[in-house]
Amino acid sequence: MAATETRKDVVLDVKDLRTYFRTRWGEVKAVDGVTFDLRKGETLGIVGESGCGKSVTMLSLMRLIPMPPGRIVDGSISLDGEDLLQLSEDEMSKVRGSKIGLIIQDPMTSLNPVFSIGNQVTEAIRIHQDIPRHSVMERALDVLRKVNIPAAETRVRDYPHQMSGGMRQRVVGAIGISCQPMVLIADEPTTSLDVTIQAQYLKLLKDLQQDSDLSLIFITHDFGIVAKMCDRVAVMYAGKIVEMGSVRDIFNNPSHPYTEALLASVPKMEEDVDRLYAIEGQPPTLHNLPPGCSFAARCPYVMDKCREQYPPEFNVAEAHHSACWRLE
Ligand SMILES: Nc1ncnc2c1ncn2[C@@H]1O[C@H](COP(=O)(O)OP(=O)(O)O)[C@@H](O)[C@H]1O
Ligand SMILES: [Mg+2]
Repeated sequence: MAATETRKDVVLDVKDLRTYFRTRWGEVKAVDGVTFDLRKGETLGIVGESGCGKSVTMLSLMRLIPMPPGRIVDGSISLDGEDLLQLSEDEMSKVRGSKIGLIIQDPMTSLNPVFSIGNQVTEAIRIHQDIPRHSVMERALDVLRKVNIPAAETRVRDYPHQMSGGMRQRVVGAIGISCQPMVLIADEPTTSLDVTIQAQYLKLLKDLQQDSDLSLIFITHDFGIVAKMCDRVAVMYAGKIVEMGSVRDIFNNPSHPYTEALLASVPKMEEDVDRLYAIEGQPPTLHNLPPGCSFAARCPYVMDKCREQYPPEFNVAEAHHSACWRLE
């Protein structure tokens, strides 16, 4: 495909995003120069250990960063040609839900325990969509059926605690898609689900995506899910994307030592659990980061240069880049 054609398909274009938090230990650079794009109908996986800035990146896209202590200090977030960082709070609240939606990790905290399921889904629709009052419940039932809630007409009267974890996660999914967003962000949506329910939920997300040409950002620390769900992958470490490429590139030719280590820590069926490879050391705390590559302290290939200067992005192949001095 020609470069211009590919650009035309881009629905979300994030450039040099920086989100910092003021803490009493100093400034935490949770997101520190993140650049990526997302095309129509595509699924982008974002992987990395906990604390590396995945959720803060997504909350920044939704403009849901608590300010203070947080602050988006730089960058642009272009959604469907509009820079979200330039919108007023009112304008942004219209975009949220209608053009870009977020499904978060814990369905219990994202549902309000004192309102019925029906109430919460219709509320989301009412806020964002200009449809006649009497059709709102019809639309809510539609989306609940879409996420395979059995007997939706009666379940709408249920409260969150009356549903199983899997059902609650589906309801959260229903709210996420109720206004037909262009971009849906799923932030570790299956972490609290057991394996069978997780597989059903992933299939459901895939089906919804195919029905509506939805672009999906899928955050996970599970490479098995990445292989099943994603077209491209961004690997995040200490607030930065350290490697990005197609799923095939990342699995077959991981070029950043951190990606290599993450892949090596994935349990394989035939292996004993006690032979699992774990990455030595901890991710760094994100304040007062030393100069140079943030992975240097844990990297088996570290060179002097790595401790002095942060590596630029090197192209490994077309649309596959990695920030590692070994590629210089
Ligand atoms: N409200 C906050 N105040 C201070 N630091 C925060 C806040 N929210 C997140 N952070 C910091 O931002 C960093 C990235 O967090 P997060 O994006 O949640 O990581 P993850 O990759 O696990 O989703 C962490 O170091 C975290 O401590
Ligand atoms: Mg997170």
